[in-house]
Amino acid sequence: MDLIHHEALVIGGGLAGLRCALALLEAGRDVALLTKVHPLRSHSVAAQGGINAALGNSPDGTDDTPERHAEDTVKGADYLADQDAVMAMCTEAPAAVYELEHRGTVFSRFEDGRIAQRPFGGAGFPRTCYAADRTGHNLLHTLYEWAIARGLRVYEEFFVTALAVADGRVTGCVALDIARDVMGGFAAPAVVLATGGYGRLFTRSTNALINTGDGAALALGAGCPLEDMEFVQFHPTTLAGSNILISEAARGEGGILLNKAGERFMARYAEKAMELAPRDIVARAIQTEVNEGRGFEGGHVHLDLTALGASRINERLPGIRRLALDFAGVDPVAKPLPVQPGQHYSMGGVPTDADGATPVPGLYACGEAACVSVHGANRLGGNSLLDTLVFGRRTGARLGPGLPELPAPDEAAVADLLRRETERITALAVREKGTKVAPLRAELRRLMFDHFGVFRDGAKMAQGLELLAGVEARAGEVAVGTAGGPFNHTLIHALELEFLLAIAPAVARGALAREESRGAHARRDFPKRDDDRFLKHTFAFRRDKVELEYREVNLGRFPVRERSY
Ligand code: FUM
Repeated sequence: MDLIHHEALVIGGGLAGLRCALALLEAGRDVALLTKVHPLRSHSVAAQGGINAALGNSPDGTDDTPERHAEDTVKGADYLADQDAVMAMCTEAPAAVYELEHRGTVFSRFEDGRIAQRPFGGAGFPRTCYAADRTGHNLLHTLYEWAIARGLRVYEEFFVTALAVADGRVTGCVALDIARDVMGGFAAPAVVLATGGYGRLFTRSTNALINTGDGAALALGAGCPLEDMEFVQFHPTTLAGSNILISEAARGEGGILLNKAGERFMARYAEKAMELAPRDIVARAIQTEVNEGRGFEGGHVHLDLTALGASRINERLPGIRRLALDFAGVDPVAKPLPVQPGQHYSMGGVPTDADGATPVPGLYACGEAACVSVHGANRLGGNSLLDTLVFGRRTGARLGPGLPELPAPDEAAVADLLRRETERITALAVREKGTKVAPLRAELRRLMFDHFGVFRDGAKMAQGLELLAGVEARAGEVAVGTAGGPFNHTLIHALELEFLLAIAPAVARGALAREESRGAHARRDFPKRDDDRFLKHTFAFRRDKVELEYREVNLGRFPVRERSY
């Protein structure tokens, strides 16, 4: 079979992948983007509330600076973030926002015409720039139009199943062309993973169904460790039942949280910041209210936006109103919304430096797939879109000029992988007897949420690991049972299940081994942060089984303190 050649392959068509590819195009490189869905269906499109940058546009934000942004980010991260990378992100934030504005993103505006900024959790100033509550949608369309205008080669609906490695160096990949039902081999001296997070490892999630940790699993398969996988963010306000995101912007605009007694309970958990404490704190507060019987039947509390009035809701939160009407039958203009915590973001991922390089030569990563680490143990709202743009650009800008000097790809290694993957996937597609994919995937997601959710403890996690071993054993007998053909979603789901199962032990073992509470990792049996033992990044290696090692955090100008809000 013929191989396809490019100078660089970017896997993933969301904001990080597109921005990286654009930087490579700007450097004059032959780059191709492979994506399992059309780029405009990437999960970036779902980002609602905004993107942080210390522009100082809001009347009460004029003293804001990149350094203050960095300080809030490091504190929000419960000091596990690498401070050099955080400074880089916050310093470049204004340029990243203005660049997208100049490219055509329609940001919401203050009366004087400047980009509007709203308060978000854990931020000392109104710092979150927004396009109503469809910020990701606006940014993604801008980047996609820009990329297409620049002639970016996009392989749409190509599912990458494995990376090719020769002499310890990534040298290409193999992908299933979903629409044509054929496998293809891609040879390139550099591969960038920009595949998003692993949110769909959990049953209650705001994430798109496509967020199955593909990049992390591909990296692990190529001999790369994974960093801080136990740090999983639970967003406080997802619509009860469907777990569709109800943006933090709703609280930024003045929404309040109430328990079934009508009490504004956040006063008990964060008396100054209240509803605008960081997400880990608000999520635990809601879960505690529910667990202690002060929530509503079904396990939720109320998010009350009625004081905002119809015109503010229509102007600033039109998407939230629509979602609430369509998926909960509630109009937030008139009634409070039922909300509960749900998985939202993956702080862990493929370890990179601040320019996207991973420990494996030829392999790079950016966006939610990567762990730079700028979010540490808990990401602040509004920093995810920023991360995608800043580190997407930096990765492409660093990689581009040096590409001609990289070793030529090893075509034999790619061809060999293509042959092996074709045999393996063909056999999987036609296997008729065995475990059904969908129930097994649902079982995995439920067990991860139940045993590694908002609150964790040793005994429950140990039990979770045993259940996980059971799912792993049955996954070896999965049957797709179709004759194949284009758009074989059962096959895609089976391959995604393999990816989820490859990374689940890193999440679970990392969580069990971290005997402390820090950011989103909240253990009932170890309720305190333990800086002596665990002010460290976890690195999970796949050897015979997952093995953990620990690496120092890059501390800096912001001293490690107790967090209070
Ligand atoms: O709540 C939100 O709008 C989410 C923002 C984010 O995750 O950064």
